[in-house]
Amino acid sequence: MKTILITGAGGVVGTYLRQELAGKYALRLSDIRRLKPAAGETFVQGDIANLNDMLRATKGVDAFVHLGGYSVEGAWKDILNANIVGCYNAFEAARRNGVKRVLFATSNHAVGFYRRDQVIDHRVYIKPDSRYGVSKVFGEALGSLYADKYGMEVFCMRIGNVGTAPIDKRRLSIWISPRDFAQLVTIGIEHPDIRFEIVYGVSNNRRSWYDNANAVRLGYRPADDSEAFAAEVLAREQPGDARAEVYQGGAFVHSEAIENPTPVPRRRTSKVKPRAAKKKGGSTAKLKATRKTPRVED
Ligand SMILES: NC(=O)c1ccc[n+]([C@@H]2O[C@H](COP(=O)([O-])OP(=O)(O)OC[C@H]3O[C@@H](n4cnc5c(N)ncnc54)[C@H](O)[C@@H]3O)[C@@H](O)[C@H]2O)c1
Repeated sequence: MKTILITGAGGVVGTYLRQELAGKYALRLSDIRRLKPAAGETFVQGDIANLNDMLRATKGVDAFVHLGGYSVEGAWKDILNANIVGCYNAFEAARRNGVKRVLFATSNHAVGFYRRDQVIDHRVYIKPDSRYGVSKVFGEALGSLYADKYGMEVFCMRIGNVGTAPIDKRRLSIWISPRDFAQLVTIGIEHPDIRFEIVYGVSNNRRSWYDNANAVRLGYRPADDSEAFAAEVLAREQPGDARAEVYQGGAFVHSEAIENPTPVPRRRTSKVKPRAAKKKGGSTAKLKATRKTPRVED
C-alpha cells in the first residue's frame, strides 16, 4: 500500500480527503495543529514554513498532497509565510527526500479575474484575483520548475469549492463533491504519465466556467453535478457586490481579507509548541468553535 502525505490534513479539504481515501492508502497526516490519527493514519506535526519540519514529514512517502497553508485572502505576511515560504519548503523537502509525485492544491483564484461569461481551460494566462491567488500562481510556477529542472511529477489541482453541496450561485459553477475530489486526487497519485499538469478541481457542473479537458484526458469522470442543488441555492441567493458578480473569483476581486476558516494560533510560524500556543488564545475550544463556522468564501 502506498504511503501518502497530506499536509493541512486538519482543514476542510483534508478532513473530506481522509474520509474518502481511508483504507486505500496509508495516510501520513501533517498539520501545524495537533491532529488525532485514525486507524491507518499516522501524524507528524509540523509547520510548513519550517524546512526541517517538512523534511521530517516527507521522508519515505510515495506521494504528497500539499493542502497546507493559508486558504483565503489575508495579510501579506500570512500569505508569504504559509503559501510562499511554505510552498517552497514543500517542494524542496520532497525533492531532497526523493518524493517525485507532488499534488498541489492550487485554486480557482489563480484565474479569478476571468469573467463569468468566459469558459477557460488549463492553458489560459494566469489572472489572480488576490494576494492569495498570486500565492497559488507561485506554487504552480514552482511546480513547473521542479518538474522541468528536477524531473518531479507535479499535479496542480485548481480547486473550485469542496463540499457536500454548493452553498451559493458562484459555487454552482465551481463546486466539487468530496468523492469527485478524491477521484481527481487518486488520478494525481496513480496516473503513470504525469510530468506537469494543471487540472480544474470541479465536479461535472452544468454551469461550469471551465473546460476541464486536461483532467478528462487523464481519466477524470466526475459523478456529481451542482444542478441538483440549483433551485434551492438560487431561491436563497441575495444580490452581491457588482464587481464580484462579474468575475469568477467573486468577493476575492474586491476583498482585502476573507474569514479564515481554520485559523492557526499566532506565534507558531517556526517552532511547533502546542502547549504554549494554547495559552496564547489558540485554545482547542476556540478552534473547535471556529471550525463549525460556515465557510464564507473560497
Ligand atoms: N476549501 C476549498 O474548497 C478550496 C478551494 C480552493 C483551494 N483550496 C486549497 O486547498 C487547501 C486546503 O483548503 P482548506 O479549505 O482545507 O483550508 P483550511 O484553511 O480549512 O485548512 C488549511 C490547513 O492548513 C493548516 N496550516 C495552515 N498554516 C500552516 C502551516 N504554516 N503549517 C502547517 N499547516 C498549516 C491549517 O492548520 C489547516 O488545517 C488550501 O491550500 C487551499 O488554498 C481549497
